[in-house]
Amino acid sequence: MRQSLLTALAWSNWASASANVHTFPVQRDVPAVVGMDLYGREVSRPLMKRDTATLGTDMFNHISNTVNVSIGTPPQSVGMMVDFLTATFDVFYEDTRWTKSECREIRYCALYGSYNATKSTSNVTKEIPNRWGDPYEEFTDTVTLGGTKVKNVELRRLTIEYGNYNSIGLSPNNESFPYQLVDRGLIRSPSFSLWGNSSEEGGAGILFGGINKAKYHGPLQAYSFNKTWGSVSIPLSKFQVQTESETPTNYTLSSSKPYMLSAQYIITTLPKDAVLRMYQDYNISYVGWNDDDPQFGLLPCSRQYTETRTVSLFFGNATISANWSDLFVPWGSADSERCSFLIQPEDDLNSSYAGRIGTKFSERMYMTINYNNAFVGVAALNENPGPDDIVEIGDGPEIPDAVGDFPTSIVPYKKPKPTVSMSTSTSTGLASMPTYMPGGMFVGVAGAALVAAL
Ligand SMILES: *[C@@H]1O[C@H](CO)[C@@H](O)[C@H](O)[C@H]1NC(C)=O
Ligand SMILES: *[C@@H]1O[C@H](CO)[C@@H](O)[C@H](O)[C@H]1NC(C)=O
Ligand SMILES: *[C@@H]1O[C@H](CO)[C@@H](O)[C@H](O)[C@H]1NC(C)=O
Ligand SMILES: *[C@@H]1O[C@H](CO)[C@@H](O)[C@H](O)[C@H]1NC(C)=O
Ligand SMILES: *[C@@H]1O[C@H](CO)[C@@H](O)[C@H](O)[C@H]1NC(C)=O
Ligand SMILES: *[C@@H]1O[C@H](CO)[C@@H](O)[C@H](O)[C@H]1NC(C)=O
Ligand SMILES: *[C@@H]1O[C@H](CO)[C@@H](O)[C@H](O)[C@H]1NC(C)=O
Ligand SMILES: *[C@@H]1O[C@H](CO)[C@@H](O)[C@H](O)[C@H]1NC(C)=O
Ligand SMILES: *[C@@H]1O[C@H](CO)[C@@H](O)[C@H](O)[C@H]1NC(C)=O
Ligand SMILES: *[C@@H]1O[C@H](CO)[C@@H](O)[C@H](O)[C@H]1NC(C)=O
Ligand SMILES: *[C@@H]1O[C@H](CO)[C@@H](O)[C@H](O)[C@H]1NC(C)=O
Repeated sequence: MRQSLLTALAWSNWASASANVHTFPVQRDVPAVVGMDLYGREVSRPLMKRDTATLGTDMFNHISNTVNVSIGTPPQSVGMMVDFLTATFDVFYEDTRWTKSECREIRYCALYGSYNATKSTSNVTKEIPNRWGDPYEEFTDTVTLGGTKVKNVELRRLTIEYGNYNSIGLSPNNESFPYQLVDRGLIRSPSFSLWGNSSEEGGAGILFGGINKAKYHGPLQAYSFNKTWGSVSIPLSKFQVQTESETPTNYTLSSSKPYMLSAQYIITTLPKDAVLRMYQDYNISYVGWNDDDPQFGLLPCSRQYTETRTVSLFFGNATISANWSDLFVPWGSADSERCSFLIQPEDDLNSSYAGRIGTKFSERMYMTINYNNAFVGVAALNENPGPDDIVEIGDGPEIPDAVGDFPTSIVPYKKPKPTVSMSTSTSTGLASMPTYMPGGMFVGVAGAALVAAL
């Protein structure tokens, strides 16, 4: 318990925002936002044969964007992957009736933890008729994140087995976590910002309901996306390779389709014609593992150290650059001399997307996603941010501090008619946490408030 509490305090590494509040677009002393640190763990596994450009979607190449939360009373600590592509709150569930393995035997369970309802006095099981009138069991419990207690969050119980992982679904589906925070009055719009490199050293974060202007070089470049596709996407006009002191080489992208933003795939995929031109210009071979397998862009790993370049993606005026040396991953085995290049041709021509923005670029980005108006805003990360400057996103048709072709009005999401007892959720976030120390610990009032919340 004591251990969990200390860890919880460290999690709510949320800064001195109240000193600095902006009043756009809504006038408030304390913005209604919920924020916390993200972290990640490099789970090294070289790219294998089956990781083709389109199938190279094994997120376990690199576990990224994880948040620490606690579930239940007393709190049970778990790490959850932040997942744009799902809508549910999934957690490894300890129940001997359905679980064959012990948590410690399954790697992601051992790393990120599991939940045991029997140990929680706030667990609730309800029989709810499904749409055919048959009952199904709904499991809920209190989830605490970033100093905020969110009651009655529906938990999707995962059996403890390989292939499963804890995750918080942030997709555009109107039951995803940002919508649940609106339903409970904790934020005003189903929206969030996500930024930075979620390495083990930290430095990345997520902020529901707000933007933090200190963390990027503004303004945000905002574009609308189609929510019905179930994910967030963004247009991309060109990319560029810049070698020291040489004129950069530009590759225009003619596809009218947008690019999927997921913040969890290590590989970036772009239209094949442009990628193959770049491969040719920079002597990256495009070969198959076997004759009949999909082809892949490969090059000697040594070129990671002998060449200095940057590769940049252009989203309007936002230029997101990655180091050449960060775009290499050993191919086949960890000590391979051949590396896969982390920009690969998109093979799935039937997809709604022209490609996908991988983590090597998304970790250099600040992104704000607002499901009310279905706009995403991006900007280059400010690597040396000043004090936090938090602005609430509000429920208007725009994203604050962003340029974009916003509609003049929208119909914002409103919480459905009162159902479960959600009103009792409490935010001990910014309101009660005036004191922040660089080490990431809150002191004084903040600690007290958090104890009450727990
Ligand atoms: C999250 O929890 C893990 C395990 O308890 C801990 O090692 C890690 O430092 C925590 N990370 C953050 C950012 O709180
Ligand atoms: C869950 O917690 C209960 C109560 O502490 C314990 O008896 C049970 O063994 C736990 N379940 C698992 C699978 O660890
Ligand atoms: C919920 O907690 C109670 C104890 O407070 C326990 O008896 C019950 O078994 C728990 N529910 C589940 C599904 O474990
Ligand atoms: C992100 O962090 C990892 C681990 O610390 C590091 O290897 C990588 O270079 C970092 N990436 C960026 C873009 O800073
Ligand atoms: C979104 O996509 C769906 C399915 O592809 C399409 O029917 C709809 O017209 C699109 N909406 C907009 C606003 O483009
Ligand atoms: C590529 O675009 C940049 C501007 O972003 C320009 O300065 C450069 O000259 C272009 N390179 C070539 C080869 O045209
Ligand atoms: C291109 O790379 C291959 C190895 O991948 C190397 O053998 C060849 O010499 C390179 N060509 C040039 C022009 O650098
Ligand atoms: C991009 O920058 C140029 C030059 O500063 C400016 O004229 C243009 O309005 C900007 N476009 C957007 C979308 O911000
Ligand atoms: C990019 O790589 C060079 C070495 O190739 C390194 O000195 C530099 O710090 C890196 N830049 C970033 C932003 O990671
Ligand atoms: C694309 O869709 C068409 C028609 O649905 C199908 O015949 C074709 O096999 C698909 N191609 C790929 C690469 O999936
Ligand atoms: C959520 O979306 C579904 C359709 O996907 C719609 O029927 C429902 O009314 C929406 N709920 C709310 C509260 O907007």
